[in-house]
Amino acid sequence: MYGLVNRAIEDMVCEKFDSATWATIRAKAEVDTVAFNSMDGYPDEVTYALVGAASDVLGAPVDELLEAFGEYWTLYTAQEGYGDMMGMFGDSFIDFLRNLDEMHGHISVTMPDLRPPQFSCVDAGDGRYTLHYISERDGLGPMVIGLLKGLAKRFEIEAKIDHRARKADGADHDEFDIEIAA
Ligand code: HEM
Repeated sequence: MYGLVNRAIEDMVCEKFDSATWATIRAKAEVDTVAFNSMDGYPDEVTYALVGAASDVLGAPVDELLEAFGEYWTLYTAQEGYGDMMGMFGDSFIDFLRNLDEMHGHISVTMPDLRPPQFSCVDAGDGRYTLHYISERDGLGPMVIGLLKGLAKRFEIEAKIDHRARKADGADHDEFDIEIAA
């Protein structure tokens, strides 16, 4: 994944804990890179190793860390200069979810090796939606919960999110039921 992701993990750890904790995590993950370059690609194994080591060092389950990371990502990317761009892809939570693929497509203009996930958002009526999340990667479903929570805050809405189907449990892909309070 692009270094932007690994840098965000580092920033989250340093912000919520400190740089010594990050150094311990990086050592445990056996990652030699001292400073990730946002626009360089790194093997996915680096990201997974960092998350696994963070789980060991912080004593928190991987899924919990991924969810926290997803929420952090919505703030981090805005702060890293992608805020205006996010504004171009929807004025409401649901519009934004519908445009996620287009948004990642736009990002891949500057990150040509991007391998983004795919989303589709189906309206089930009465403020209920099903979000389908399709990725070539495994295990990142909990991150999407955090992303959705972060986006709900960004759009100042209340959303109930249920991780209904999990690729980790043998489903074809992850699905989320979303209920938006009227
Ligand atoms: C402007 C904000 C955003 C930027 C700059 C961005 C960029 C990226 C980048 C660089 C990756 C790593 C993929 C790779 O390197 O191949 C990624 C992955 C991902 N993005 Fe985004 N993204 C943004 C917002 C979002 C939002 C709002 C969602 C909400 C659902 C999202 C969902 C994901 C997921 C789930 C992945 C994990 C990769 C996978 O599932 O295979 N992203 N994104």
